[in-house]
Amino acid sequence: MEKKITVVGAGQVGGTTALMLAQEELGDVVLVDVVEGLSEGKALDIMEGRPIWGSDVKLIGTADYAATAGSDLVIITSGMARKPGMSREDLIDANKKIVEGVTKEIAKHSPNCIIIMVANPLDTMTYLAKKISGFPKNQVFGQAGILDTARFRTFLAMELKVSVEDIQALVLGGHGDEMVPLISYTTVAGIPITFFLSQEQIQKIAQRTQKAGGEIVALLKTGSAYYSPAAAAVQMAEAILKDKKRILPCSAYLEGEYGLNDIYFGVPVKLGSRGAEQVIEVKLTPEEQEAVKRSAESVRSSIASLKL
Ligand code: 2OP
Repeated sequence: MEKKITVVGAGQVGGTTALMLAQEELGDVVLVDVVEGLSEGKALDIMEGRPIWGSDVKLIGTADYAATAGSDLVIITSGMARKPGMSREDLIDANKKIVEGVTKEIAKHSPNCIIIMVANPLDTMTYLAKKISGFPKNQVFGQAGILDTARFRTFLAMELKVSVEDIQALVLGGHGDEMVPLISYTTVAGIPITFFLSQEQIQKIAQRTQKAGGEIVALLKTGSAYYSPAAAAVQMAEAILKDKKRILPCSAYLEGEYGLNDIYFGVPVKLGSRGAEQVIEVKLTPEEQEAVKRSAESVRSSIASLKL
């Protein structure tokens, strides 16, 4: 039997996520949106593309959560996106209401599903979804680290003129401008990055990575990135639905790891059929520990502002 995947929000991220899920034949997709006709139209459009790329999964668009019942995996993309000049934190009030309502419906209709959060501010919205759903921590986590790491890998590959595939990296921390690219774990085909670039060059690229979401917002003017965020969510979906046990950076609930408690934070996670199956705790340099602390403080103050 095909797996059942619900994508909530049929905007740019949600529509692109549904498209990529269908292209990779990861399961049947229910695309949900409150805007009349939007999810129906996008689902039908993707259905009609399937003969071209040779995919037999089915898609439906709906505003009715009853159609999502029994989903194995739910990807929440709904909510407002940033406009130029806004930080992800500026979205908190609007997206709190949306994510609360969506999570209640999802928990009611698919009590055993795994939830991947994509709405911003990411770590805070993931925390909210865990609280509202009451799901265990392995079933609720967020997409951010894969995207942040992919951006870092992209900029390094551009600088070095090598394949993106040969850059291994890890960006940890909250999905905000204080995220932490771990230089000590960055290699080119296994060779430490410091062999290729000076500290100054690396720092410049790390800083561009931290602000990469805002760079796209400033260019698009009407919203934020969607191709790469959708690709990151779909990579997580694949790891879960195929029980691949991949090690990918995700926003996971921490209970003591990295010296942090009761917080969602970007860390390496083993993803498999049970969701976030294990948090991997890597050793950090004193500078990285300091940077993680700063990032955690800003996630904490964002979570506090939810007033749960
Ligand atoms: C980004 O970093 C939308 O938060 C997302 O582009």
